[in-house]
Amino acid sequence: MGGNASTNFSPGPETKTTNSSEDKATKTLSTGIIAGLTGKQSWVPRKDDVLKGHVKLPVPGLAVDHSYHTMWLRINCHCPQCTTTVSNQRSFSPWHYNPDLNSKPSPDFLFGHSSKEPFSSQTFEVTRCWDSPTSEKDEGMLDVEFQDGRDGSQHVGKVPKELLVKMYKETTFAKQISAARTPRPLVEPVEPMNYTDFVSSDESLFRALSQLMFNGVVLIKGAPSHTETIQMCMSKFGPIEDTIYGLDWRVKIHLDQSENAIGVNFKDYHMDLVCFESGPGLQGLHAYQVDSSCEGGDSLLLDIFAIAEEFRQLHPSLFKTLTQIPVTFNSVYSKEEKEAHKCSHKPHIEVNRDDVIVAVNWVPQTDLGLFLAKQEEIDDYYQAYCKFGQMIQDSKLRHRFKLEENDVLIFNNRRMVHGRSALKSGSRYLIGAFVTIDNFLQKYNDMAMDRGLKPNPVRVGNQDRA
Ligand SMILES: [Fe+2]
Ligand SMILES: [Zn+2]
Repeated sequence: MGGNASTNFSPGPETKTTNSSEDKATKTLSTGIIAGLTGKQSWVPRKDDVLKGHVKLPVPGLAVDHSYHTMWLRINCHCPQCTTTVSNQRSFSPWHYNPDLNSKPSPDFLFGHSSKEPFSSQTFEVTRCWDSPTSEKDEGMLDVEFQDGRDGSQHVGKVPKELLVKMYKETTFAKQISAARTPRPLVEPVEPMNYTDFVSSDESLFRALSQLMFNGVVLIKGAPSHTETIQMCMSKFGPIEDTIYGLDWRVKIHLDQSENAIGVNFKDYHMDLVCFESGPGLQGLHAYQVDSSCEGGDSLLLDIFAIAEEFRQLHPSLFKTLTQIPVTFNSVYSKEEKEAHKCSHKPHIEVNRDDVIVAVNWVPQTDLGLFLAKQEEIDDYYQAYCKFGQMIQDSKLRHRFKLEENDVLIFNNRRMVHGRSALKSGSRYLIGAFVTIDNFLQKYNDMAMDRGLKPNPVRVGNQDRA
């Protein structure tokens, strides 16, 4: 928020009320200035007639009012007393001071609440607001006077105007914001990127990050032929995630010697490590060696968010079943005397409170325990499970990559299910690595904001309910 805050943040147009209990407030608003506050444009906010505990404030810089809950305003006070300057974290809890937990009196205690008086969402009242920046730092703040119903004490706080604007926009335009965050299904063929281009500049890196964000996949061609290549490429997106498989892992499939033939069959679509509370975000695969006689063994990718949405349209009740029944995702992995047991329970499709798909969990290769399902649900579950599995197999949205030596295929493991066609001849040797979804998001968001773009533009299946 820039400019002269005192001129672009004046009381809004909604200054009239017919409610007699608010006469005092109306009089104050109609005059705009409260006597006794010399030089300060101040007003008493009007209580919202409908929303409990809310007061109406003009949204900074916009010619509209918005209703804010008084507790929300109090909790978001950013005055030096309520916010630590070092970490910018809240330094108080609005409820009672508890001497058993605090060696020193907290700011809350400083407000004088050492008693065990009842505390509720209605404890704080906003008695007055004004906008009079006394320093550059204050310019972005609205001064708000709170009264504590427990003892009538007052606190003069500062609420960031940027936060008021954000709260107004997020709540008023929630539907539009949510729709904009739905990624477009990946239909078009993936446009590959050259390795030399990928490493040449920040702009190229941001292009790759954007492809991962919006399309869920990036294909890099002509990478160096080293075993370290995958870590080198993936570390551009965030620190390499160490898992039970190590910092990187090898997938060799071959048909050279039939007795040693491994992993040559079709591998159905799946996500990796769904059994983790937070499975890998980005998965990268470097085609380290591809035999010239290699036939088959193609990498397959599919945008499972798009399939899940189609599934909802075609089979709403089966869709609902898959959002409700928690599935046990189990995995036991052992290598070099190490054994890891992983287990996590979650439905196949996760939706937020508006029924928007925010995550999909799919790995038909490992145990699908239904230990948390009720017995009478299991038949319904399998009906839905089979139908969804079939839709995934039959989907036309499939992307097929015949990886050439030194191609690097990177995709969002939370959104794109991956599989492999059967190997018909030769051999293929891939090296893989992971980056967490949080680190990928942080990298994208940092670079996007540097470029004046919005952070978190689309859903990436990271358990965010927005
Ligand atoms: Fe996999
Ligand atoms: Zn404060």
